[in-house]
Amino acid sequence: MSRNADALAALIRERAGAAPPAYGMVLGSGLGHIAETVDGVAIDYAELPGFPHAGVSGHTPKLVIGTLEGQRVAIFGGRAHYYESGRGDAMRLPLEVLKALGGERLILTNAAGSMHPDLNPGDLMLLSDHINFSGLNPLIGEKTDARFVPMTKAHDPAMRSALKAAAKAEDIPLMEGVYAWYSGPSFETPAEIRAIRILGADAVGMSTVPEVILARFLGLRVAAISTITNKAAGLSDEQISHEHTKAMAPLGAAKLERILRRMLRG
Ligand code: HPA
Repeated sequence: MSRNADALAALIRERAGAAPPAYGMVLGSGLGHIAETVDGVAIDYAELPGFPHAGVSGHTPKLVIGTLEGQRVAIFGGRAHYYESGRGDAMRLPLEVLKALGGERLILTNAAGSMHPDLNPGDLMLLSDHINFSGLNPLIGEKTDARFVPMTKAHDPAMRSALKAAAKAEDIPLMEGVYAWYSGPSFETPAEIRAIRILGADAVGMSTVPEVILARFLGLRVAAISTITNKAAGLSDEQISHEHTKAMAPLGAAKLERILRRMLRG
């Protein structure tokens, strides 16, 4: 853990209290509403030296710490992407801070395109696994042997079960599938989408995989859910764009919020 993370955790504890968060959450494009419902303290990333200046519209660069459904949560409203800086470890410091605060579990959310015939805009997909199709890795340059992180059960089976049970209790379909990470920021070509479909991916996006790797490196248990905002390139006539992603994310966001709340209630 970096000294910076310990110092930031001390600063956050002073502002928000010392109780460790039961869950950390990273919110994807257009999925920020749940953070507004937390009873707690919001800290702008600008007040946390070294935190990314999440510069993508649709993200709110704030850390919100407080109580949601009776559980202590730390919600990262802004996510830094590889494509913003060329740094695969852009989310390392926030996740180190979660760990330094005593967090043990992390839930990642994102907006994604779908290659699966049964996954349509507005649907949710729980990640059973992922394919790092970018070829990048947030641990490149890490000097310790801890960099050789096993990724066999990277997406935590117990957390996935809890999320599936919560979805069932809310009567919301939650299919499991494989997410492929392309670096972005350009969207994929139809040929790239056909390629990853053949390789076993069900959804595609520009985030999440580096955070799963970093979380496992830090010893955090992690699960991730995609909100499907579009059929991936070449699979429908609709125009893929960031505006479209932001416009469509709320379709799934309300369901996602219900699942997360139900999971927190236990
Ligand atoms: N591709 C990559 N990222 C995305 C997509 C997509 O089709 N939709 C939302 N985020």
